[in-house]
Amino acid sequence: MNPLGVSFCGSRLRNPTVLASGILGVTAAQLKRAEEGGAGAVTTKSIGPEERSGNRNPTCVALPHGLLNAMGLPSPGYEAMGEEWRQLKKMKVPVFASIYGASVDDFRRVAAYVADKKPALIELNISCPNTAEHGQAFGFEPSVAADVVEAVKEVSGRVPVSVKLTPNTHKTVAVAKACEEAGADAICAINTVSGMAINIEARKPVLSFKKGGYSGPAVKPIAVRCVYEIYEAVEIPILGVGGITTGRDAIEMMQAGASAVGIGSGVYYRGPNVFRLVCDEMREWMRGNGFASAKSLTGAAHD
Ligand code: SIN
Repeated sequence: MNPLGVSFCGSRLRNPTVLASGILGVTAAQLKRAEEGGAGAVTTKSIGPEERSGNRNPTCVALPHGLLNAMGLPSPGYEAMGEEWRQLKKMKVPVFASIYGASVDDFRRVAAYVADKKPALIELNISCPNTAEHGQAFGFEPSVAADVVEAVKEVSGRVPVSVKLTPNTHKTVAVAKACEEAGADAICAINTVSGMAINIEARKPVLSFKKGGYSGPAVKPIAVRCVYEIYEAVEIPILGVGGITTGRDAIEMMQAGASAVGIGSGVYYRGPNVFRLVCDEMREWMRGNGFASAKSLTGAAHD
């Protein structure tokens, strides 16, 4: 038996590590590299309703304890991704398709098209802090998030739908519950934490968008807290994301309640083989601590 194998929304994953959607893994070739690096599944860069170039440079800066990015959801638009889809079809691990929109109708339209391509899961990005009109506004209010989920569920057929939540509200748990009630099959928590860096000599924000989304080791406690609280509030599985770079981090996130873990900035810190390294470290810890399966880690820190 493979002790790290887990099921997530009907997909069998060889291990619980998933390339998270975000600043890395923009092209099919990069997703393939994550697969070769040991990922159990991969998530696409968020796919939008039309072509969008994203924000002006600089869009990403490495700070002492994390990455601050404001990419601004660059996307060729869902209809211009023909060749990308052909490449994605060749992937051996499940592909999660992340999508975004500026309206409920955008989400429905993109989801209908993407569902037809039969990804293992559609992830609704209602949590990007880096655009005025497409992002986390959908994730601030439980009723608005529920509207998006309901619209997408009308067109997604048998493809499961997960919702990626923002930590930048005190309503994260309420939003998770509303999404579950609206029919979501999973929760992905969390997207980046809203932040800012200023170049004090230039007396200017470092990023052209001024604010950005903070990820990496510094946000892990925030992500663990969110996942812990969401786990107590919903029945659907959680993909825990935020600052995971080591096997110990992944185990902590799973004990908080995650069924699988997303790794994004970890690729920057440890390279594309981070998935394999995290799995090796998980296996060793599990052997030494009496856990026979990754599945048994989920929620282990709850009373
Ligand atoms: C971005 O494109 O700005 C990053 C993706 C995200 O935060 O969802």
